[in-house]
Amino acid sequence: MTSPYGVYLHIPFCSRRCDYCAFATWSDRNHLQDAYLDALQAEINREIRLGMPVATSVFVGGGTPSLVDPERLAHVVASIPVIENTELTIECNPESVTPEHVAAYMNAGVNRLSFGVQSMSAATLEALGRDHNPETVSEAVAHARSRGINRLNLDLIYGGAGESIEDWRETIQRVITLNPDHVSAYALTVEAGTPLADDPARHPDDDDQADKYLLADALLSEAGFVNYEISNWARPGQECEHNLLYWRQGNYRGFGCAAHSHHDGRRWWNVRTPDRYIDLIASDESVEASAEELSPDRQRIEGLQLSLRTREGVPREALSDADLQLLEPLIVIDGESIVLSTEGRLLANEVAVRLR
Ligand SMILES: C[S@@+](CC[C@H](N)C(=O)[O-])C[C@H]1O[C@@H](n2cnc3c(N)ncnc32)[C@H](O)[C@@H]1O
Ligand code: SF4
Repeated sequence: MTSPYGVYLHIPFCSRRCDYCAFATWSDRNHLQDAYLDALQAEINREIRLGMPVATSVFVGGGTPSLVDPERLAHVVASIPVIENTELTIECNPESVTPEHVAAYMNAGVNRLSFGVQSMSAATLEALGRDHNPETVSEAVAHARSRGINRLNLDLIYGGAGESIEDWRETIQRVITLNPDHVSAYALTVEAGTPLADDPARHPDDDDQADKYLLADALLSEAGFVNYEISNWARPGQECEHNLLYWRQGNYRGFGCAAHSHHDGRRWWNVRTPDRYIDLIASDESVEASAEELSPDRQRIEGLQLSLRTREGVPREALSDADLQLLEPLIVIDGESIVLSTEGRLLANEVAVRLR
């Protein structure tokens, strides 16, 4: 069997920056798109020449991958060596997806799309500063299906300013009606350095977010989705292989600016800005910004932290009695495994801190 190996491509462009977002993306550098895709291709070619393993999953994320020329992006994606039936996902913003995008992606073997839906309440979307509305989401989903991409993830955010629990209920219900096979729901996080961080009046409330998490879990479970990682629900068999690989500490190679890679305990990441990335590739220099080697102990702890986020949990014997005591009441014993309790799922960061 081929060893799991993930490939990530980063597309650092957006039409405008959402004021809660701290990802490596720019809205004022769209003139670099062509040069960036050339550089991305060159970095991939370089790695192929060095004997890159065959990928078992590919994820194109951003930024907004659907903002760049779909034919050009498809060409880059198609150059990645993959096993048969590889899960191949492209992240898209609903407002920038057309049937032509979907057709180009399909030609490159893409079989899964992840839409940044965030909310199905028009007022909440506006408060989040998004460029789409609930109808745009339904259209994007229809475009995907009309061209034959049926594996769909919908990303949601809860806890935006002015979002009531009823708005959130409506969002989940409308999302279920769209019949995706995967839903990711993230608590709005106040990231340092973002405009949201400077505006405490719009900061989310912990109790409100806990209620919304539990409501999402109840409604999605009732509709047949399984919560297989704290923020992720899937129909059985539709879990995201690429994310599972991250949570299982698998090896992966990230291409593009700010992309992270991991190989057997060595982690490294590329320079952050697209400008610098393009320049370094053009002069045939390394784009690696920095690296770290994880000690065996660090790897063990990170492995526990990551596995505990998932439904698989960790084997009973992986935790000492002292660890178990430390994690009470955030964990429960489930047969031969230890998994998070509902309280633990709500306080996942606390679990990570206690295991540190
Ligand atoms: C980096 S974005 C890329 C996808 C796409 N550009 C979009 O925003 O729709 C991936 C996902 O991260 C989530 N996200 C981004 N910033 C967040 C924040 N501050 N708190 C919670 N979730 C966030 C959103 O759900 C988003 O769909
Ligand atoms: S569209 Fe997505 S990646 Fe771009 S700024 Fe908004 S949240 Fe960040």
